[in-house]
Amino acid sequence: MYERAKEVIPGGVTAHIKHIAPHPIVMEKGNGSRLYDVDGNEYIDYLLSYGSLILGHGHEHVQNAVINQMQEHGTTIFGTPHQLEITMAEKLIELYPGIEMVRYTNSGLEATLLAIRTAMAYTGKTKLAKFEGHYHGGYDQVLVSVNPDLNQAGMEEQPKSVPESNGIPDYYVENTIVLPFNELDASSEILKKHADEISCLILEPVQGGFIPGDQEFIKGIRQITSELGILLIFDEVKTGFRLGLGGAQEVYGIKPDITALGKVLGGGFPVGAIGGKRDIMMTTSVNEGRDVLTAGADNSNAKKSVFHSGTYNGHPTVLSAGLATIDLLEKPGTMKELFDKTNLLRTKLEELYRNHGISMKTVGMGSIFNIILSEEPIDNFRDMSKVNSELRKEIDYELLTLGVYTKPLNRYSMSVVHTNQDIEETVAAHDQAIQHVLKKRN
Ligand SMILES: Cc1ncc(COP(=O)(O)O)c(C=O)c1O
Repeated sequence: MYERAKEVIPGGVTAHIKHIAPHPIVMEKGNGSRLYDVDGNEYIDYLLSYGSLILGHGHEHVQNAVINQMQEHGTTIFGTPHQLEITMAEKLIELYPGIEMVRYTNSGLEATLLAIRTAMAYTGKTKLAKFEGHYHGGYDQVLVSVNPDLNQAGMEEQPKSVPESNGIPDYYVENTIVLPFNELDASSEILKKHADEISCLILEPVQGGFIPGDQEFIKGIRQITSELGILLIFDEVKTGFRLGLGGAQEVYGIKPDITALGKVLGGGFPVGAIGGKRDIMMTTSVNEGRDVLTAGADNSNAKKSVFHSGTYNGHPTVLSAGLATIDLLEKPGTMKELFDKTNLLRTKLEELYRNHGISMKTVGMGSIFNIILSEEPIDNFRDMSKVNSELRKEIDYELLTLGVYTKPLNRYSMSVVHTNQDIEETVAAHDQAIQHVLKKRN
């Protein structure tokens, strides 16, 4: 299949992240916590489509909601406003402390893009700040210093902006300022130096979904950005609904100015949303500006508002899947049980690696964690780049043959349908994988 795919799709994959050397595994079916490949092999899935499937594969509650929406309303999409857009917005406002109004997009990428444009319009400033190692989607403004070559990345406390793709004009790299995560003094200094130009600071409050921002650091970042007139954007595409129903902002008790959501919000369908303070969000209101897509419309207010549109924004099928997902997560005890299961897997894995004499700790929060083969503190990209990833990679490849799926070196996301049996099987597979790898190495 990979040979066939390579003939018609560059590199054989439709997203870089789907590639695994020497070839990716082509999946055919999913069911609950399990994935099945085209050769009939079964896997316990911890990738869960990069965290999106918090209810696992094909959850009945989501499937029924989607089918009902299409059957009862007779179409997949209206192309007009509809009820679910309002219902979901009301739900997000109820759950997320920083959200007072909402706009939808079709991906997390579009959500962060809209958040940044909104911040630039609101503040009238044209630079943005981000943290080294943080991912916000694959477009020019933020595809900077996500996983930079350390030879080009400069000093730890004053990181340089490094583009992550060919084809990004210098303009974007020059206007995206990079900061060191979990380093409050160094970050504050850079922000102060460029305060007149920086519109917003965007961050993953938990880097990569698993490296927590220190509570004092996040608090300090909220304070300094407020003082300097820089909008604070929490990119909660990964952390939304996964650390708590109200995301990282609920856990940290911090209100960002704008929040970007995605992944779990769509119940397995493509989605994104931004939410934020009313006066900031109102810059995206059509009443304040113009309808550029309608010939002859009044354009006199063009400069006053942020343009935001999209054929599929607020898609009814997607929102019905998202609402069904949130509905289930809100059932009493569901989140706690999910976190307890995640912690159980973490504890058992830590014990196993310790018994094999391998330095290892799990790092994470809520329903996401990663396996780090080191005992050193892990606070940011530079710490991660010092970790020995070769052994981890060898174990991950063994795990693929033993029926445990995540992309090698990727984090583990848990779902509400993973069972204790899954956990036992996963730990047993790790045990076998470690034994195979150590034997090969000796
Ligand atoms: C924190 C974060 N922001 C933005 C994105 C982009 O979202 P999408 O892949 O839906 O465009 C991702 C995707 O992994 C993400 O993890």
